[in-house]
Amino acid sequence: MSVEKPKIVFVLGGPGAGKGTQCSRIVDRFQFTHLSAGDLLREERSREGSEFGNLIEDYIRNGKIVPVEVTCSLLENAMKASGKSRFLIDGFPRNQDNLDGWNRQMSEKVDFQFVFFFDCGEDVCVKRCLGRGQSGSGRTDDNLDSLKKRISTYNNDSLPIIKFFEGAGQVKRIDASPDAEEVFGEVEKIFVASGF
Ligand code: ADP
Ligand code: C5P
Ligand code: MG
Repeated sequence: MSVEKPKIVFVLGGPGAGKGTQCSRIVDRFQFTHLSAGDLLREERSREGSEFGNLIEDYIRNGKIVPVEVTCSLLENAMKASGKSRFLIDGFPRNQDNLDGWNRQMSEKVDFQFVFFFDCGEDVCVKRCLGRGQSGSGRTDDNLDSLKKRISTYNNDSLPIIKFFEGAGQVKRIDASPDAEEVFGEVEKIFVASGF
């Protein structure tokens, strides 16, 4: 018996570009399950008895990318636990280590669709993250000090991954600077055109 592999869309973009916001809209409109690597890491950080709690907090506060063995296992476990078959993987792969680990552990087990790239200028990203911090996100990295590090990690480590996928013709780019409603209009068109 052949079992269909789960369909995967990677969702990438700078910190505060609106990945989470758009993913929850996609979930409401299309049959997708949203898995945010950052959310899964924050959950693992707070899990009683986790051996990775301190490490994750240090990486998050300093805008560094947690070793893929941790993140990829959280993603795989969440996929299995959901029992679902279409996933938005938000905030992953964020560097070469993430991509290599995914290719080792997961790429054969899934049906990769495309990368959604929410393209947003640095100033807008910073403003949105600071706004999120002020409106009570409780995140230890929505402050200017961490944001500088997160932006630098994004430029140095994440953009090359997006460029790699672009070279393979696998990126759907969206201008993420307009308001959330307008951005979703574009997102919706792409999902419909892709047969979802
Ligand atoms: P990401 O997951 O990419 O870090 P979020 O979806 O959490 O970004 O959005 C970051 C902040 O910006 C949140 O406070 C959110 O409400 C706000 N936001 C998201 N999209 C937009 C948008 N298109 N215009 C203005 N603010 C937005
Ligand atoms: O995507 P999000 O903004 O929630 O990510 C917050 C932080 O979680 C990142 O800055 C990084 O420290 C960590 N993270 C990671 N690896 C990922 C995604 C997020 O280490 N693939
Ligand atoms: Mg997010």
